[in-house]
Amino acid sequence: MKTLWGKPVAEEIYLRLEEETARYIQSTNHAPYLAVILVGSDPASSSYVSMKEKACDRLGFDHATYRFDESVSEEKLLSLLSKLNDDPKVDGILVQLPLPDHLDAAKILETISPLKDVDGFHPVNVGNLLLGNPSLVSCTPLGILKMLEYYEIETAGKHVVVVGRSNIVGKPIAALLFQKGWDATVTICHSKTRNLRGITSLADILIVAIGQPLLITPDHVKEGAVIIDVGINRIEDAGRARGYRLVGDVDFEHVASKTTAITPVPGGVGVMTVAMLMNNTLQAAKKRRNEAEILA
Ligand SMILES: NC(=O)c1ccc[n+]([C@@H]2O[C@H](COP(=O)([O-])OP(=O)(O)OC[C@H]3O[C@@H](n4cnc5c(N)ncnc54)[C@H](OP(=O)(O)O)[C@@H]3O)[C@@H](O)[C@H]2O)c1
Repeated sequence: MKTLWGKPVAEEIYLRLEEETARYIQSTNHAPYLAVILVGSDPASSSYVSMKEKACDRLGFDHATYRFDESVSEEKLLSLLSKLNDDPKVDGILVQLPLPDHLDAAKILETISPLKDVDGFHPVNVGNLLLGNPSLVSCTPLGILKMLEYYEIETAGKHVVVVGRSNIVGKPIAALLFQKGWDATVTICHSKTRNLRGITSLADILIVAIGQPLLITPDHVKEGAVIIDVGINRIEDAGRARGYRLVGDVDFEHVASKTTAITPVPGGVGVMTVAMLMNNTLQAAKKRRNEAEILA
């Protein structure tokens, strides 16, 4: 059994991005620019935003974070997004999720220009992804693809079972892996799936993104399968100073010996997401600049 750590994969991506960013800045005199919008003071969201800011600093990207109280109006956010869409120096726009209930997240995400949608959530980007066209691909699924490439996990002709159908993980990773080039046969499961164990046990590659701690046990898994565990869940742990620990959706301890390869939590897929956001911001900057040059 091989543990698929995210860190070496993310590190390789950062090294490539460092070189690519330096070349981009040299040839355009323009650093890629990421604008982040953070609403409220949720500690997890604040910590994700601070990781994104640090990654921008490491690569030499310009960035700005717009912070708002929980009570901010939708109009105010939409008006800021429209300014950022029109601002030629801004290459990428990210609205940190989740948003408070009074805000219509779908409407807000759809207001971001598809060219600056570095989270890849805009319907235009999702549609292009489904069609197999070039698009900005959401960061967690893209991170999974980079891990599969790095660890040379063959997907062609393999049966991939994806558990979870969220817009940010389950749907896009399923839609990516059946495209030409990846060539997997994909089954998608969700909370209404009957006989989940029977289906997951058929998977050559099992991708789980459900947010249910340790739900996937050895009887869900075929001998020799590869498992990608996207779940990040807090469970109580009196033995830890902070009172909890992080676990995946897969019961790693009991499942790992049945697999040929498995991602750990923490330390697996989660490590990839910010690296892929940086990748998307640089690609968005390059694309916009090339198009501007073509138009000029
Ligand atoms: N960077 C990262 O590593 C990263 C990024 C995003 C998410 N995550 C983690 O990944 C997990 C999933 O996140 P998400 O945003 O995709 O979740 P989500 O929007 O809550 O969606 C969960 C999906 O799992 C399905 N599901 C829930 N319980 C199930 C069960 N018992 N059996 C089968 N399917 C079940 C749901 O089915 P229905 O559609 O029928 O309700 C839904 O499609 C979370 O732990 C989250 O923290 C990690």
